[in-house]
Amino acid sequence: MTTTTFSTIDELEPEQRLLVRIDVNAPVEDGIVQDDRRFARHAETLRELLDRDHAIALLAHQGRPGEETFISLRQHADILAEHLEREVDFVPDTFGEAALAAIDCLESGDVLLLENVRMCDGELPEEDSDRKGETKLVQTLAPAFDAYVDDAYSVAHRSHASIVGFPCVMDAYAGRVMEREYTANTAIRERSFDGTVTLALGGTKAEDSIPVIERVDKTVDQFCLGGVIGELSLRAAGHDMGYDIEGTELFDHQWEAHQETIKHVLAEYGDRLHLLKDLAYEANGTRAETTVEGVTKETSYFDIGSETARRYADLVTESEAVFVKGALGVFEDERFAEGTTEVLSAIADTECFSIIGGGDTAHAIGLYGLDKDDFSRVSIAGGAYVRALSGEPLIGVEVLERPDSVSC
Ligand code: 3PG
Repeated sequence: MTTTTFSTIDELEPEQRLLVRIDVNAPVEDGIVQDDRRFARHAETLRELLDRDHAIALLAHQGRPGEETFISLRQHADILAEHLEREVDFVPDTFGEAALAAIDCLESGDVLLLENVRMCDGELPEEDSDRKGETKLVQTLAPAFDAYVDDAYSVAHRSHASIVGFPCVMDAYAGRVMEREYTANTAIRERSFDGTVTLALGGTKAEDSIPVIERVDKTVDQFCLGGVIGELSLRAAGHDMGYDIEGTELFDHQWEAHQETIKHVLAEYGDRLHLLKDLAYEANGTRAETTVEGVTKETSYFDIGSETARRYADLVTESEAVFVKGALGVFEDERFAEGTTEVLSAIADTECFSIIGGGDTAHAIGLYGLDKDDFSRVSIAGGAYVRALSGEPLIGVEVLERPDSVSC
């Protein structure tokens, strides 16, 4: 049984003025949020806090600067309001005059969402927590509240100001999502399995996944690769794929930063890595497939091919435990959902222990009518979950546990 060593919202006096960090970062298409799973989970924490008459300002992010998903949080306030069945005010400012005025007006039972914190200087990049505690963002907001609550487990692997800065300068507590995800994901490390343990690694954030292969090599017997990491592994193996074309910005920068690690991982763990045999792409508006031998740098690939999907499904079916981090293809487009859904369905049909991680992957479960109860756990965290799997500490949890020892 994993025990937590941080203070939780149970220890808060009622009627406090709280700054609560949540993570409602979601898939976005044409400026519209596509998945409300994280909102639903945070609503549980917020309901508890509201029952104890706290006044709440929420900090959150959406996307990363430069990405299409980097947008205002205005619509996020409405989605949250639906889940909470009460008004959630929004202010298009995070720590300027307008934000401070709105915070000043907060009364017991009020909820206010501040603007996307990644629009503020000081939030990014990742730096020591003591530097983050000194940012204007933290120094300005902290005095306006009695305490800070971190409910954003899925961002706990980022040393950003809104995660590590506030616990350096004020009382900090873990919210329910933080507490539950931490407990469940940390418990993974304490389990042992007699049979095969498989990790399916996909998604677009290869930079989060690549280093993990080395760290979980004692826990995981085999890896099924897809998504961006699947393509970059084939690029490392000398195939003409895993390159940016037509303005995509997925592959080349991750290749530049991690090619040595990818090559090393292929050389070291090659016999335990299952690479793609075939891939799907678009031709005349429909799904077409090619074997790896037929790929070209000029084509965009959107899914693992049918042969690879069948093979991965077989491997999963024979496993005692299966962990998933990230989708294997662009499942939001039905033509390219086959790889992700075939593997998820195989997991659901098997009596294995399973954890599905990554906000987007959890979205696929709902989108394609799979039942979340057929999985041991569906985590809303991606990068943080996969780090927990590897036993790597999470800086956002460390600052909650021992704020004095993390150079604050
Ligand atoms: C996530 O969606 O995994 C978290 O919100 C972290 O987002 P990031 O990878 O952009 O830091």
